[in-house]
Amino acid sequence: MTAPVLVTGGTGTLGRLVVARLLDTGCDVRVLSRRHHEGADGFEFITGDLATGEGIEPAVDGAGTIVHCAGGPKGDEDKARNLVQAASRAGVAHLVYISVVGADRIPIVSRVDRAMFGYFGSKLAAERVVADSGLPFTTLRATQFHELFMKLAQQMAKLPVIPVPAGFRFQPIDAGEVAARLAELALGKPAGLVPDMGGPRDHGLDELLGGYLRATGRHRPIVPVRLPGKAAHAFRAGANLAPEQAVGLRTWEDFLAAPVGSSVVP
Ligand SMILES: NC(=O)c1ccc[n+]([C@@H]2O[C@H](COP(=O)([O-])OP(=O)(O)OC[C@H]3O[C@@H](n4cnc5c(N)ncnc54)[C@H](OP(=O)(O)O)[C@@H]3O)[C@@H](O)[C@H]2O)c1
Repeated sequence: MTAPVLVTGGTGTLGRLVVARLLDTGCDVRVLSRRHHEGADGFEFITGDLATGEGIEPAVDGAGTIVHCAGGPKGDEDKARNLVQAASRAGVAHLVYISVVGADRIPIVSRVDRAMFGYFGSKLAAERVVADSGLPFTTLRATQFHELFMKLAQQMAKLPVIPVPAGFRFQPIDAGEVAARLAELALGKPAGLVPDMGGPRDHGLDELLGGYLRATGRHRPIVPVRLPGKAAHAFRAGANLAPEQAVGLRTWEDFLAAPVGSSVVP
């Protein structure tokens, strides 16, 4: 019997797709979640919270590999620290971490940067916690998932006029494709920081929102707004993009046209 793979965030957009991939390859999978869930054959849930440390020890105990997909807008550095401390004590053989393209290129130097883009700083700090942990690790940076733009578009479409940051471009990617790559990395040897994964095309946020508005038969004026700060400046220079690594297949248009939850990855 092989050791189970622990997937933190295995209930989230990305993590649940990673879990499905790993189960397909015959792995035993364990998921850490803050809420109680019933398990199934080859699939176990452990209730715990990476922010408080509760439940982490039993989650990592006996796990061979961890795929760390738990995350949120804030505090990913602390969550990663709690996880790696427990994983180191448990002798985990491989920690796979998902970060974001641009984590190392978007400067978070002022209060304005932190208020709007602190997420990127916390992903970089979490990457460093993983890399400095002494655990064999693999870190993959991906661009934003289609689901994120869908949520944003749904929120923004409630406004009569939609403000968008001027000059920002994004390279949406299919979460299923990222999950497939993470599962592949989890089954392979620790590889350190691996090449970025970006979606097939980059678009202005106005284009992404415009696509959503057209697909849902709505009309809203979209107004560009120039954001202050060094992080916003880096965004306008494309620091969040991976044009050399536009390896994703599924486009935003494909995503909008497809039934909810479907994926191009077989
Ligand atoms: N979304 C994107 O566009 C994007 C792009 C690049 C990288 N990433 C990274 O990919 C990862 C997953 O993103 P996602 O969009 O799939 O996130 P998501 O759908 O918001 O899911 C977040 C997951 O994190 C878990 N979680 C949050 N706080 C936790 C805590 N304190 N303790 C334990 N579990 C916790 C949640 O589990 P429970 O609620 O069940 O506890 C949930 O499963 C994140 O690290 C994110 O930074 C995301």
